[in-house]
Amino acid sequence: MLTKQGFDLWADDYDQHVHDIEKNNQYPFAGYKEILNTIFNVIMQKKDSKILDIGFGTGVLAHKLYEHGHRIDGLDFSPKMISIAKTKMPDANLVEWDISNGLPAELEEKKYDFIISTYTLHHLTDKEKITLILKLLPLIEENGKILIGDISFETREKLEICKRENASRWDSDEFYFVYEEIKSSLKNEYSCEFHQISHCGSVIMISK
Ligand SMILES: C[S@@+](CC[C@H](N)C(=O)[O-])C[C@H]1O[C@@H](n2cnc3c(N)ncnc32)[C@H](O)[C@@H]1O
Repeated sequence: MLTKQGFDLWADDYDQHVHDIEKNNQYPFAGYKEILNTIFNVIMQKKDSKILDIGFGTGVLAHKLYEHGHRIDGLDFSPKMISIAKTKMPDANLVEWDISNGLPAELEEKKYDFIISTYTLHHLTDKEKITLILKLLPLIEENGKILIGDISFETREKLEICKRENASRWDSDEFYFVYEEIKSSLKNEYSCEFHQISHCGSVIMISK
């Protein structure tokens, strides 16, 4: 499991590293750009949205939204990632925070049109993911959405197939989304959608 120091060390090479893996359509980043674009296109249907990006990293997606006039708040625990993102989005509210400690108090009174997170929540266990999603749901506006782009699979069986096919590269310290399990943990009380984008990546949309 990468620590915040690990992400600090990765930050300068992150974009190139992702690009190289994606280009070869390989786990874990196959479909990376299309996943980010899918989220971008949903958000672009609404002007001037308030967005919270959890684990914004170098700001690839948040920066594109920022350039289009959306207001960005973000959480990330890596000071190096934050400093790279800050140069691209000087007016964004980027907060250093470890989401394994829940959410910072300053978010309690906030409301967002969209809460987004790409390639970050797999660092939380499934139980921690659900706890976090349940804390995020009250922060979205009535018609708001939580949009999660990540290494994720519709069923446990599909995850296991990907694991077998990528045995030499598979990162056993990470906890990938299994859509059916996440949906059932949310007790079908929320509207959930699953959009498979690549052999190992998809977008999960959750709304009230
Ligand atoms: C793989 S990068 C993804 C960055 C970006 N969202 C993207 O799609 O390219 C994961 C990001 O999540 C952050 N992160 C990982 N675990 C975290 C945690 N527990 N709390 C806050 N940020 C975390 C890392 O610092 C890093 O910037």
